[in-house]
Amino acid sequence: MIVRTLLRAAGLLLGLVVLMQVITVERDNPPITGTIVTPPAVTSVLRRSCFDCHSNETVWPWYSRVAPVSWLVAHDVHEGREHLNFSEWRPLARETKQRRLGDIIEVLREGEMPPGIYTPLHPEARLSMEEVAALQNWATTALAAELDEVAVPAAPGVPPSH
Ligand code: HEC
Repeated sequence: MIVRTLLRAAGLLLGLVVLMQVITVERDNPPITGTIVTPPAVTSVLRRSCFDCHSNETVWPWYSRVAPVSWLVAHDVHEGREHLNFSEWRPLARETKQRRLGDIIEVLREGEMPPGIYTPLHPEARLSMEEVAALQNWATTALAAELDEVAVPAAPGVPPSH
């Protein structure tokens, strides 16, 4: 009796998983419009730890083909790109770059990225303390440079004050 019930439940579950496969998700990589330019050491860390969800160069893993995991992976990638896309960086407005750099500094400080759901299957994406520091240094310098560029220039004829 119990065995038959269990078998029936397992069959139902299997049927459900098979049915789920009908709902596919888009595993896309849209065109690259301007990849961010950073010092090589920073680029390699960003590519290793962030690009799967924050670029148009996502390496879609095999398990991203299997529902319901595929739904979660696609959701993370599409939402990640909406918040920050290193492949569409250069055409961004300066104010947007400033905001994004501020966000990067914040998530690094909080240790929020890469997300904890991702690192068990992608241990190579984990950041060492030195790498976090390197990214923070870069983001802080880049933010200062973006802020500098919008600073109001001194009136002509007025000598610089420093
Ligand atoms: C597994 C996918 C994934 C990886 C890998 C990943 N992120 Fe994210 N990231 C997301 C998602 C999803 C969001 C939006 C939801 C959220 O804030 O949690 C996000 C949001 C962000 C934001 C915006 C936060 C805000 O307050 O709006 C920043 C900045 C960010 N990530 C930086 C990074 C950096 C830097 C790395 C690499 C060190 C990284 N992420 C790696 C998925 C990812």
